[in-house]
Amino acid sequence: MTIPLILDTDPGVDDAFALALAVASPEVSLVGVTTVFGNVSLGSTTANALRLLALLGREDVPVAAGAARPLVHPQARLSSAHGSDGLSGFAHTLPEPTREVDPRDAVTLMRDVLVAADRPVTIAAVGPLTNVALLLAAHPSLRSRIGRIVVMGGGLDGGNITPAAEFNLWCDPEAARRVLVEEDVPVTVVPMDLTGRCAVSAQWLTALAETSEVGAKLVGLTPDYLATYRRFLGWDGMVLHDAVAVAEAVRPGILKSTRFPVDVECSFGPARGALVVDRRLESREHLGVDIALETHVEGLREFVFDRLGALGQAD
Ligand code: RIB
Ligand code: CA
Repeated sequence: MTIPLILDTDPGVDDAFALALAVASPEVSLVGVTTVFGNVSLGSTTANALRLLALLGREDVPVAAGAARPLVHPQARLSSAHGSDGLSGFAHTLPEPTREVDPRDAVTLMRDVLVAADRPVTIAAVGPLTNVALLLAAHPSLRSRIGRIVVMGGGLDGGNITPAAEFNLWCDPEAARRVLVEEDVPVTVVPMDLTGRCAVSAQWLTALAETSEVGAKLVGLTPDYLATYRRFLGWDGMVLHDAVAVAEAVRPGILKSTRFPVDVECSFGPARGALVVDRRLESREHLGVDIALETHVEGLREFVFDRLGALGQAD
């Protein structure tokens, strides 16, 4: 039985691979894409989502724009590792969409999907958690219709945007705290500690580009992001953070998770946005979130490659 999936996203190069993986996975039915500010502005993340679904031949999937800014405090504008347009400056190489953004806002689309679903819906949240926090605040009665929320975010041993905080949680710590701490919904957090170990090489990307036109287009979006990660990693590769999280959404259990009590630092000190995980004791109660700490790294890379490599092949 397929899992209805909503992807909440800020495309974003790794978001593009994550969206493609969702489209390529028969285990899920992608029923909605909601966009949020993050890697670039909401206008650009939304335009990128529309172009990516045109590339993937899935303009049947509604795209609804959500939050253009965090819940409470403004986020410092930064140059993006994803390039000025969010896709290494190559968004224009993707097809023009032939339909408009959905007239509903992101929260309304998510509400409508949840109300209409005949089984629990998975939400994969791979950007700042503002839209998800707003959904849960505005429609608490719909919590029971959410099967799980898979969140790409957090870093147990340091961050990427600051020494303490990972980008998605740093963008809107208050929203992250609402979703990860204050709401009673099953959440799996896929932190950068694990996604970083699943980095893919430039050779992997070259091989993917040779599988199909779609593969070549996806890889064509990576130059700025690859350049950033060459410096981070110290070798010729990049981290598909969001695709690792979507792999868990489409194949539950591909990542090995353990439940821990967590918090999110919302003060304005140097640790703002940090995911605080109490690893002193595995949480036995329902409190806490599942944190993905292990996977078969090579197997995961192969899973993602095989799925993306099949895109654009003649049916
Ligand atoms: O820290 C990684 C996360 O931040 C990913 O979702 C990436 O797309 C960026 O948004
Ligand atoms: Ca993202």
